Amino acid sequence: MAIRTIREMGETVLEKPCKEVTEMTDRLQVLIDDMIDTLYDANGVGLAAPQVGILKRIVVIDTTGDNLLVLINPRIIESDGEQTGYEGCLSVPGKSGIVTRPNYVKVTALDRQMQQITVEGTELLARALCHELDHLDGHLYVEKVEGRLVDNRELMNQREEEE
Ligand code: NI
Repeated sequence: MAIRTIREMGETVLEKPCKEVTEMTDRLQVLIDDMIDTLYDANGVGLAAPQVGILKRIVVIDTTGDNLLVLINPRIIESDGEQTGYEGCLSVPGKSGIVTRPNYVKVTALDRQMQQITVEGTELLARALCHELDHLDGHLYVEKVEGRLVDNRELMNQREEEE
């Protein structure tokens, strides 16, 4: 178990498409454990392998703190509705931006035993699934931001003023 360095926007590893996982290995199990540690250490809701410098189609997501998902070769097979809201990324620290995503997605993937699973998510989970899957194709949410990226401190001040 180890915390890996999170790569930041501007590093080319975040802009490349990732390769499918064709067989599970001890090395990949260690990578997955490290991704989980790195996600929780950073208080994130999702992390994709390229964010720790590995071009493999693996993501870990936990939107509630007790619902960890490990998805290998994930693929969106259904989506519905729309949600518009602020989104952030561990690779773009301190910033947020408004992105429109589906409000519901259904994803097929393999789990870490390479068994086929299906995951359905709405709201934050749907957003996280879309965001993390984009990483696997070399895309960051900043490409989809409506308006401009805002500083998280600015956003906090805004919210305080609204209260
Ligand atoms: Ni991200």
